[in-house]
Amino acid sequence: MLKDLLEGKPLRHPIHPMLVHFPIGLFILSFILDLVGLAPSPRPFLVSAAFYAMLLGVITALLAAIPGFVDYTDIRRDHPGKTTATGHMVLNLLAVALYAINLWLRILALNNSKVGLTPLILSFVGIGLLSASGYLGGRLVYDEGIAVGRHKRRTPAPQETIELPRTKSGFVPVPQAEQLRDQETFRAEIDGCVLTIVRIGKALFAFQEFCTHRFGPLSEGAFDGFNVQCPWHNSCFDVRTGKVTNGPAKVNLKTFKMEMRDGKVGVLMTRNHDQKT
Ligand code: FES
Repeated sequence: MLKDLLEGKPLRHPIHPMLVHFPIGLFILSFILDLVGLAPSPRPFLVSAAFYAMLLGVITALLAAIPGFVDYTDIRRDHPGKTTATGHMVLNLLAVALYAINLWLRILALNNSKVGLTPLILSFVGIGLLSASGYLGGRLVYDEGIAVGRHKRRTPAPQETIELPRTKSGFVPVPQAEQLRDQETFRAEIDGCVLTIVRIGKALFAFQEFCTHRFGPLSEGAFDGFNVQCPWHNSCFDVRTGKVTNGPAKVNLKTFKMEMRDGKVGVLMTRNHDQKT
């Protein structure tokens, strides 16, 4: 419940990107005040103003870090964006640590008429770190699709991709599929092929995990009847046939037959589906 709140699900919008504007704006404001304060006729109040802007920046950065960390824990371990997200988080933590040291240096010189050289350099480095971290944050959204469309989903998305052993007969038992609730998904990798299994009503369907448009993760998509909607750009596919029911995707999905054999539910990996997806 708290996790949903921090992810912004009630607002249908992630919280972290909404909050990060505050520390970024305040740190830049603090740096601008420092620069203005270096003018030939110094105004000592600018030193205090820069200090308090930075202090507020650190407080709001720590607040923004909470939903940011919750978002981070939600990125699946096998997602290609996980490394970028780790880099983004490390740079942010470094920047906040640097600003905390900067504040400590400034508190001892609040009555000076101009900012000292070391705090000024630290502010400059801090802005450099924020820019690099902001670049990685942008890549996470635009290149990796992190947090895109996640809020459309009403049932939980699977965190892990479970590897299942291939069998000679092509029938791979998936006992976990029996536990699925309506519209809940399970993601499996069988011999290099990643697929999603979903329960819709009483029936189970299996299809390739990655959208044929730009590889959006369909196990995180929204379901409406027998349609799955890609979380990235809203392409829709019929899970029974794999047919595109709404673009931008133009290529149908590969689907797999779910069967019951010897009392076990499983997926049939036929020769047609051996191609890696
Ligand atoms: S990646 Fe699925 S619609 Fe673009």
